[in-house]
Amino acid sequence: MNSPPVSAVSADLAARVLPDKYQVTQGEYPTKAFLKLLLTVAAGILPLQVVAAPLAPAVSSRVAEIIASRCALCHGPEGESASAIYPRLAAQHPDYIVKQLKDFRDGRRKGETMTDMAKDLQDTDIAGLAAFFSSRKAGGRQSGDVDLAGVGKYIFHRGNNFSGVAACASCHGPKGFGTELLPRLAGQHPAYIEIQLKEFNKRERTNDNSIMHSIASKLTELETKAVSVYIGGLQ
Ligand code: HEC
Ligand code: HEC
Repeated sequence: MNSPPVSAVSADLAARVLPDKYQVTQGEYPTKAFLKLLLTVAAGILPLQVVAAPLAPAVSSRVAEIIASRCALCHGPEGESASAIYPRLAAQHPDYIVKQLKDFRDGRRKGETMTDMAKDLQDTDIAGLAAFFSSRKAGGRQSGDVDLAGVGKYIFHRGNNFSGVAACASCHGPKGFGTELLPRLAGQHPAYIEIQLKEFNKRERTNDNSIMHSIASKLTELETKAVSVYIGGLQ
């Protein structure tokens, strides 16, 4: 009856669970940015009761607690990451997830938020988290600009002979499913892919300074955007 308006509750919730850089200021309410934030928070908080979906691997209570109280807030309880700023983890390869979490924890991959999230994780927690998220169903494909995706399709399967870009498919697979240590790209949020390619190029993503750096440094702005859009549409 006398409950405060939804926006006030959500803003308060967001203020408590999200780090500063993901906050939107009061003046912006109610905007698209706020609604997106609300969705992110809701995706993390509301469906926690359904974490135990069919086929979920046996997760220790400590790992379940870490997922519910942390990871789910941004990546979603099923790793589906409803918000484009957070990478999808569902169906990602477990060994790749393990490597990334250890790289964040041990400072080999820089990232303010994830370094903080991973700093107190033990190897057994990391193994449990990787087993859980990798077992979750991949999110649906995302449609984007068809013409851009066409350019991206060429780069993905054929590379660019003129500038020396190797075909993404030669390592990440023709459908972008990846392999044990090579990440699945299919269906990942295009905005995340684009940021990673730029970070590899600028050597800001520090845990793979050779292979992906040399590829990203040869991609033009158009190719980077196009291949990201194409990847988002793979399933
Ligand atoms: C506050 C939001 C937030 C929370 C909470 C969070 N993450 Fe992340 N996570 C991110 C962001 C943002 C990135 C992208 C980092 C980058 O671009 O450097 C990321 C990246 C990752 C990646 C790398 C994905 C890839 O494709 O390389 C993994 C794995 C990951 N997170 C796992 C987790 C796990 C497990 C937890 C819980 C312990 C967690 N995250 C909690 C925001 C979050
Ligand atoms: C020679 C093999 C190889 C080729 C070719 C290649 N990649 Fe990669 N890629 C890798 C490896 C290895 C990693 C994992 C790096 C790490 O461990 O952090 C990776 C990681 C990535 C990531 C980070 C994924 C994530 O979840 O954070 C993106 C994005 C990516 N590649 C996109 C591409 C695109 C786009 C192309 C084509 C233009 C491409 N790659 C071609 C080997 C390759």
